[in-house]
Amino acid sequence: MTIKIFDVETGKEKNKKIEEIEFKEKEEDLKEEHYMLKEILEQPETIKKAAEQNEQKLLETAMEILRAKNVIFTACGTARYAAIVGRYLFSRIAKKFSEVIMAHEFQYFIDSVDKDTLIIAVSQSGETADVLEGVKKAKENGAKIVAITNVENSSLARMSDFVFYLNCGPEIAVASTKAFTGQLVILYLLAFATINKIQACKIKLKNLAKKVEETIIKNEETLKKLAVKLKDRGDFYYIARGIDFAIASEGALKLKETSYIHAEGMPAGELKHGTLSLIEDGTPVVVICPKDYTYEETLNNAQETKVRGAFLIGVSDEENELFDSWLRIPETEEIFYPLLTVIPLQLLAYYISVARGNNPDKPRNLAKSVTVK
Ligand code: G6P
Repeated sequence: MTIKIFDVETGKEKNKKIEEIEFKEKEEDLKEEHYMLKEILEQPETIKKAAEQNEQKLLETAMEILRAKNVIFTACGTARYAAIVGRYLFSRIAKKFSEVIMAHEFQYFIDSVDKDTLIIAVSQSGETADVLEGVKKAKENGAKIVAITNVENSSLARMSDFVFYLNCGPEIAVASTKAFTGQLVILYLLAFATINKIQACKIKLKNLAKKVEETIIKNEETLKKLAVKLKDRGDFYYIARGIDFAIASEGALKLKETSYIHAEGMPAGELKHGTLSLIEDGTPVVVICPKDYTYEETLNNAQETKVRGAFLIGVSDEENELFDSWLRIPETEEIFYPLLTVIPLQLLAYYISVARGNNPDKPRNLAKSVTVK
């Protein structure tokens, strides 16, 4: 195929280099009922592939993170929730404060971006218009750019000083699942690179890949039944504390995208500042409470919803009498829980979507890549 590119103003042909990107998967390769399910099930492999990163590049980027006066993540949708996990990781491991700004709001903060700012742009497609626009402006102000993306040679990749690819193959379903996991893996590696522990992190991640597999197997049947039971509820709330707050938000987003059910994710401590008034008899509340430093406090908040009639779905490595349904995850180190807690929530959204007769791969009104502002 011949492609010619012309300048719209002069009409003259432009000499542009065309790069071909190999997409290894084709639609007929699908064995599962939907791409979303295929991509969820692939995640043990995603973790291993995303962990294959150049150590020197990780170390150089880690130095930039530590050196920068301000570290700002910019992203949209699911990628932004990955960035929020990254923010907790940078604080906890690198002892580095950072900010996460929604890409479409980023332009309003551009005045405080300068050459001592490091921008970390997270984008599966690398083509989200709002992300590109913010990165362009940040570059003009002299900031350095790190890209975490899945698509080789995407616009974002081409604009960035450091690029980390997820290596997880094309993501076809509109609702992002495996790309989120790949993004987390790179953020773990970057955080551990700041303390010179890349190898230790890789070993932990390999171990996590097995635990993701276990999480899928252990919950599938419970989730299918739960989906049928809850498919007609009108509102879901997802609560968690600390690093898992991002997963509460991501779980709610997955449900909204694929099931068209109203859902909100929030830090558990925020409930009493408004949302508690919406809890009624039977309202599903998903409480993400791994047995870590957040366990007791999160459960206290869950109890506040339970006494008002909530149907509590607990995501934890420990069962609790408060739970009406328990989605079990294996035990791990505190900071690694997000890689496990997100899995049953992706599957819950998937099965509810299917139970409602939707096509989870192609949600109404949504696009995989939003290339307009
Ligand atoms: C759209 C997609 C979401 C995605 C978001 C960001 O809204 O439907 O699934 O999370 O864009 O996309 P990106 O490619 O920048 O990660």
